[in-house]
Amino acid sequence: MLTVALPKGRIAEQTLEIFGEIFGGEFRFEGRELIMEKEGFRFLNVRNQDVPTYVEHGAADIGVVGLDVITEKELDIIQLLDMQLGKCKVAIGIKNEDELDWSRPNIKVATKMVNITKNYFAKKAVGVEVVKLYGSIELAPLVGLADAIVDIVETGNTMRENGLKVAEDIMDSSAHLIANKNSFYAKKGEILSLYEKIKTVVERNG
Ligand code: PRP
Ligand code: MG
Repeated sequence: MLTVALPKGRIAEQTLEIFGEIFGGEFRFEGRELIMEKEGFRFLNVRNQDVPTYVEHGAADIGVVGLDVITEKELDIIQLLDMQLGKCKVAIGIKNEDELDWSRPNIKVATKMVNITKNYFAKKAVGVEVVKLYGSIELAPLVGLADAIVDIVETGNTMRENGLKVAEDIMDSSAHLIANKNSFYAKKGEILSLYEKIKTVVERNG
């Protein structure tokens, strides 16, 4: 039996649609359900950022999660497939009236993605103070908690509605299929068979 960790949040709906096309019928978690069994698979309803944790520990054999989360966590897992959904960017945002001046001292950057942010500024040889937040990142520059943010931009609505603009793009992200390393060798046949089905749907939809 394969255990598959599926994400809640922004990529949930499109992910469930893909699995619905493969397994047919209504493919969704009912009410507060966290585990769903279907045709010899067990599906876990997991918070987006926790998907790679379930997969890395082998509590799930495979999972679906954003490349931003994989990059942020620097995980020891296998990346199987770019599912081409939930496409977004990780970008630097600043206030509309501001301009980027990285030579200024004591720049503060607020983000959920501390590692991506630190690596990005280290490569540019810019010293910044990173302020870790867990959500509503766009609020930080508006109230003087930070000079800039690093966050996900999908439609751009959240930044626009809060008087922010993209100053620089850091990376593209989309949902990826990932596998636990041991599972990949122990259950290779099962995993590759599901992988092929997902790939077929992704290519048909693409
Ligand atoms: C995400 C992300 C941005 C926004 C981007 O936040 O952190 O704020 O969505 O989408 P947009 O460009 O289409 O507006 P989310 O709604 O997940 O909330 P959170 O950051 O408070 O967790
Ligand atoms: Mg947000």
